[in-house]
Order: sequence, then C-alpha cells, then structure tokens
Amino acid sequence: MAGLIPQHFIDELLTRTDIVEVINSRAPLKKAGHEYKACCPFHDEKTPSFTVSPGKQFYHCFGCGAHGTALGFLMEHDHMSFVEAIEELASMNGLEVPREEGAAPARSNDDLYQVLGAAADFYQSQLKDHAAAIAYLKGRGLTGQIAVEFCIGFAPDSWDALLGKLGKDEDGQRRLHLTGMVIERDGGGFYDRFRNRVMFPIRDTRGRFIGFGGRVLGEGEPKYLNSPETPLFKKGEGLYGLYEARQALRDIPRLLVVEGYMDVVGLAQHGIRYGVATLGTATTVQHLKQLFRVSNQVVFCFDGDRAGRAAAWRALENALPEMREGRDIRFLFLPDGEDPDSLVRAEGRAAFEKRIDGAMPFSEYLVKNLSDQVDMDSVEGRAAMAESARPLLGRIPTGVYREMLTQTVADAVGMAPAALAGVLSEESQRVRTARQGRTPVSRAEGRSTLARRAIGHLLANPHLAVGIDVPPALAESAQKGHQILVELIAQGQATPGLNTAALLERWRERPEGEHLQKLLHQRLDQLGQRKGFSPEGLKQEFKDLITRIGSQLSPERERILLAKMADEGLSSEEKEELRALHVARSEAPAEAGNEASGA
Ligand code: UTP
Ligand code: MN
Repeated sequence: MAGLIPQHFIDELLTRTDIVEVINSRAPLKKAGHEYKACCPFHDEKTPSFTVSPGKQFYHCFGCGAHGTALGFLMEHDHMSFVEAIEELASMNGLEVPREEGAAPARSNDDLYQVLGAAADFYQSQLKDHAAAIAYLKGRGLTGQIAVEFCIGFAPDSWDALLGKLGKDEDGQRRLHLTGMVIERDGGGFYDRFRNRVMFPIRDTRGRFIGFGGRVLGEGEPKYLNSPETPLFKKGEGLYGLYEARQALRDIPRLLVVEGYMDVVGLAQHGIRYGVATLGTATTVQHLKQLFRVSNQVVFCFDGDRAGRAAAWRALENALPEMREGRDIRFLFLPDGEDPDSLVRAEGRAAFEKRIDGAMPFSEYLVKNLSDQVDMDSVEGRAAMAESARPLLGRIPTGVYREMLTQTVADAVGMAPAALAGVLSEESQRVRTARQGRTPVSRAEGRSTLARRAIGHLLANPHLAVGIDVPPALAESAQKGHQILVELIAQGQATPGLNTAALLERWRERPEGEHLQKLLHQRLDQLGQRKGFSPEGLKQEFKDLITRIGSQLSPERERILLAKMADEGLSSEEKEELRALHVARSEAPAEAGNEASGA
C-alpha cells in the first residue's frame, strides 16, 4: 500500500509537517528550551516526560519509551493506518496525495463498505417481517431499542434473498462475493452465505460495516456463522462492540472483553455499555493496541472452566509486550457454566459490575498462576517459580512497569529484587546477543557499538551524511549494522534536505525500522544529558566515527585484498587502498584498540 504513494511526496510531507502542531492539538504541549513537553498521552503520569523535538520532528517519552514521527503518532494515537495518516498530514498541509505513475490505481474499498452497509440495512428491514426472529430476540431479553443500536437484523431462509437485492448485476455480485456475503457455486453463479440467521453486523472503529456474525434461531450447527477473512474483515483485528461502546459513552474508564456477540449485546441491554468481543479468536496484540487507545483499563472475562483458564493465560502472554506503566489489565473468572449474558440477566447490573470491580490484577494473576504450579514452601519450588517468571518478565518492555512487576515476583519468591533484576538483565543481554548472532568478544562488541553510535548520530542529524566518504571496508562489511549505516548514509546523501522523520519513515516497512527508532530514542536521551556543542563539532565527531569503523575493519579488508592479490591480482585502485590501509594501521592502532574494548 505504501508503495503507491511516491517516496518524494512522503519526504516532502514530513519536511513540511510540524510535529508540534500535530501533537499539540491532541496533547497540549509546553515549551521547554528547544523542545516541548507534555504529560504522555500513552501512559498515565503526573510530571511530563513526553518530549517533542521540533528539530528532529520526533517524539519520545522517557517514562514509557513511546517514540516516533508525526506519522507514527497519528497511527498510534488516532489509530490510523499508514495511508490514513499520510492523508491526514497532507490535508493539514493543503496537499493532494499523488499516486505513483504506472502502479496499480489505489484500490479504495469504498464500494465494499457500501455493499456491507446496504446488506445490514436489508437484514434490519427483514427483521421487521419475521415474527419468529423478533420472538427469539425478545426471548433473549432484548428490547427493540438495543436491537436498533446494534443494527441487529435477520437473514431470511432463502438461497438468494440478499443476492436478489444487491447482486442484480455482475458488479453487485462481485462485491457481495469479495465481502464474503455470497458463496460461488461449483457450476457458476452464487448463493447467500447467511440463511435463516439472526445477524450481528460488525463495525470498525469508524463505524463502517466490515462483516457479520449470524446465529441460528434456536438449535443448529454451526451455532454462529461468521464472515470469512476479506479485504475488510480480519478476525485478529476486529472487536465487536467497540464502535457501539464509543457511541454510547463519552468516556470509557474500562473495557470488558467477553467471548460472544450475545454477551456484548446482553450486557448493553443491562446498561453495561463497555463490553467488546473478539471474533472467535484469542486476543492479539492488535486487539490490545486498539483497546488501550480507548481506555487505560481492560478487563478480560473468562469462563471459570479449564478452557477459560487456558484462554486467560494465553491472553496474559499476548499482553506482555503491551504492558507498561499506566495500563491496567485485569482478569475476571465467572462461575462454571455461566457467561456474561446469562449472569447479567440473572443477577442484574450492580451485582455484575461488582464482579468486574473485583477482577484480579495482571500481576496478581501472573504470580498466582505460576505459584499454583509449584510448592512455594520449598526453596526448589520458589526457584522454579522465579525461573518460569523470568522469560515472561523479559517480554515486558523495559520501564517502570517491568521493574514493579519484577519487584512483585521477587517478593513472592523471597528474593532480592536486584538479584532477580540482575538475572533478568543478563537474560535480555543474552537474548539480544543471540538474536544478533554476535559473539560477545570485546572487539566485535566495540565495532557494533561504534556503528550503533554512528547510526544514532545520523538519524538525529541526517545532514551529517553529506560529504562523508564511506571507507571501502565499511561499504563491503557483511555486518548488519554496517550495512544499515551505509544505506542510511546513501539515503542522506541522495536527498540532502531529508529530516530525521523522513529518514526514519523510509524504514517503516522493514524489520530494522523499529530498531532504528530505538537507537534514535537512546541518542536523544544522551543528547538530553549533554547540551551545547557546535554543529561543526558534531560533523567532526561523526566523521571520526566513520573513520574509526573503517580502520577497525581494515585488517579484515586487508586480508581480503591480500587474498585477492594472490588470486587474481588487484586493480590500481585496490592497490592504492591496500597501501592506505597499511598507513592507517601504523598510525592509529592505539585508538581503535581502546575503542574496541571500551564504550
Ligand atoms: P458460545 O458458544 O459461547 O456462544 O460462543 P454464546 O456467545 O454463549 O452464544 P449464545 O448465548 O448461545 O447465543 C461464543 C462466541 O464464539 C464464536 C462466536 O463469536 C460466539 O459469539 N462462535 C461460537 C463461533 O464463531 N461459531 C460457533 O459455532 C460458536
Ligand atoms: Mn451465551
């Protein structure tokens, strides 16, 4: 999708955009020196640690570690897609988003949303004419008003009711087929997917219809039939009831995640308007991101049976990477055999909300579940518990929350938090080293440190790339960090006016993108502690870094050149390079050596 918008336009947009303006309208900023500050919109805090740098066009929070560009901010904060965020920034700047020539025209899904809206209308109108369906909903305790709020409808018992209404021409049939509303027959032609079912339309956060769940009247298999995966409907992302909750409530202090459509609607019927359901899947990270955009507290509701407990633990595991200071996840277990719909009908709103109030905090559930599996009275049991907690804690982003949870686990096993934290940092160190496939030899360590520092410099000041000669040894290095550095330098040189945000955005779709944002975040932390140095000083520092990386790599390069010389001979340029390497090595061995073991 991103490929359809020309790169030069994204560059220009990010050059014109003022991140301060974008963020200020959503989280009011206060000027503090060269930067702006606010209480972080991504976590709960009293003193502002959210910082926006107009120079870098980048925001970062010292508290929770959130960071990104103006584009990233819109995506995180306003829950926009990449293209939507581009369109928003373009319209703020009075620009039209161009599309790349020759590329496929931008596929708008407008006609698909439209056909699903028409289908929802059709089912709703059918409900009025089908007394049995109305009786079924009444029997389940629903009033007409709630049915209307959730746009509940009915698909008649027919193979072609919807097809006849919306699939009169080929184009209509194509849309119905693309949205999963009709199924293609083997011999050609189509038939309605949903027949003789109560229809629950699923809307996205903007209120557009993206799919349906259909329940049989009474008994029958399958009990619920859902839209298949389509360009609009992604099971791992959709949340039934989230749009309706936002319509009903101005402020959403908490969200209750339940299992079924009827649970959401039944709760709403009893005045609990903050229920949402995943669409027959486990909770994903995308679900959590959406939920936390709307509320700081998410309560997962599960059956008390074995399957419910397994699902709860899975939800906890999936939530770890999203946990941070200010976000509150809780777990509510219902009595065996009950679901929120049956329970709220039986005991009413107040009693049910009391259960929600008593839901188990994330940390308590984690400790309890791990403790239940060992004998906490024995040293061995407590050691085993600490052992199993370790990888879980390691998946929480570093920050206040992780420290607090580490403390809680340490308390539970009677260990000094520092000891557990020490184990933890060794663990994450080990993981990191393993992931990058590096041997923890000081020399290799030193090299990558230099490269990381150079990358941080360059991201913070892309203009540093201008006028840099990349040493051949660096250009040809097989190390990932070096390759990234070389590519960044090339990008900075190819587009001299590029700012930090534009440079970063070029890496958005790549696996290294997130890593680069973190490096910049670290770099800005350092800059925050070290003020007042000249632009010339910066330039020199960056040049020195590159030179040092080059000379560190040179023994390798020298070996390659020597081997080549013996093998096939060298070009005159290569001969010159080899000579230069000899000279560089005899001039600066001490410096390279120091750097390798230090930093
Ligand atoms: P349940 O079987 O727990 O049903 O399915 P329920 O929500 O209590 O439904 P009622 O009260 O009998 O009407 C929970 C959820 O699992 C998915 C649906 O999303 C449903 O809401 N499900 C269930 C299916 O997708 N297909 C099925 O056949 C059954
Ligand atoms: Mn039920």
